[in-house]
Amino acid sequence: MKILITGAAGFIGFHLVKALFLSGHEVIGLDNLNNYYDVNLKLARLRELGIDNISDSQIGLKINGLHNFTFYKGDICDTTFIDNLFKTEHFTHVVHLAAQAGVRYSITNPDTYIDSNIIGFYNILKNAKQFAIEHFIYASSSSVYGNSKKMPFSTSDNVDQPISLYAATKKSNELFAYTYSHLFNLKTTGLRFFTVYGPWGRPDMAYYKFIEAIMADKKIPVYNNGNLERDFTYIDDIIKGIIKVIDTGFISNSENENYAIYNIGNGNPIKLMDFISTIEHHLGRKAIMEMLPMQDGDVYKTYADISDLKINYGYQPTTNLNQGIRNFVEWYKQQF
Ligand SMILES: NC(=O)c1ccc[n+]([C@@H]2O[C@H](COP(=O)([O-])OP(=O)(O)OC[C@H]3O[C@@H](n4cnc5c(N)ncnc54)[C@H](O)[C@@H]3O)[C@@H](O)[C@H]2O)c1
Repeated sequence: MKILITGAAGFIGFHLVKALFLSGHEVIGLDNLNNYYDVNLKLARLRELGIDNISDSQIGLKINGLHNFTFYKGDICDTTFIDNLFKTEHFTHVVHLAAQAGVRYSITNPDTYIDSNIIGFYNILKNAKQFAIEHFIYASSSSVYGNSKKMPFSTSDNVDQPISLYAATKKSNELFAYTYSHLFNLKTTGLRFFTVYGPWGRPDMAYYKFIEAIMADKKIPVYNNGNLERDFTYIDDIIKGIIKVIDTGFISNSENENYAIYNIGNGNPIKLMDFISTIEHHLGRKAIMEMLPMQDGDVYKTYADISDLKINYGYQPTTNLNQGIRNFVEWYKQQF
């Protein structure tokens, strides 16, 4: 097994690379290290993987890290680079995580979503087909469910009403994957992630911003007057789930024998105000809350039906919010 992980300097990619190389897998990472959020955090993650001091002169070149890990700095929109990478590396598996994330940002910066999530996604997909990759796994998102009232969210639900461009690009990825599974027998598995949090997490996400603000005695914005719920999923549970999918191999859960789509969440939505109390508890500080109306593009509630992933792969999240926030706060305090 030789696995390409795109978005390897990102939150989920970094944890996945580490867990995979520690269990003896051969892993090649790729990331363009863009500045959507602090690049220093991406560089610090890479240092943990044995990659130091990347300069622009190394773009497109192979860099050796710890264990069997090697890394390329490069862009998935760079067709020549991606085509050459697949030609030279002979991957057997691809886990495609590189994307422009974030719901709100897609309202003000749509172009970057079209570039990375549509054109970049296609570049990886077409090479997966061209080089007959055994299993193409890619990141989708709970945001494809929009404001669906049907709970919990099931992969058999209709998801034709995305309420942000981000969600629309993720839904498009699923459609592209379906077509390639159908036409070319490419085995594709989409994983719809549900609000992933934990150490080394993303500074653009609410839990990270809340903790930063509370530590600095600043106000935290609480949207929809706190009437929001999220199916928060701890990073280690997500990583165990992805590794089960890689190691077990492709299992269809659709009428197309080469196409699968799974929710990967916790299956236990948490009310925003309870979430904030848990953070306050672990920080030993009270939040100063600014109650605000609902934001455009945001959804009221997410709740994952994870039964397919449990049955087919034995997926079982085990980290509750209390433990997860405790771990995040410990990590955060060590960093800052
Ligand atoms: N974290 C979550 O809660 C969550 C929820 C739903 C879906 N997802 C999806 O999971 C995947 C990973 O998310 P994450 O939280 O680790 O985000 P992240 O932003 O930390 O990681 C994505 C990485 O991809 C890289 N990247 C972006 N565009 C690129 C390009 N054009 N070429 C090369 N590299 C590029 C970025 O530099 C970044 O390091 C994404 O596809 C995201 O949309 C995440």
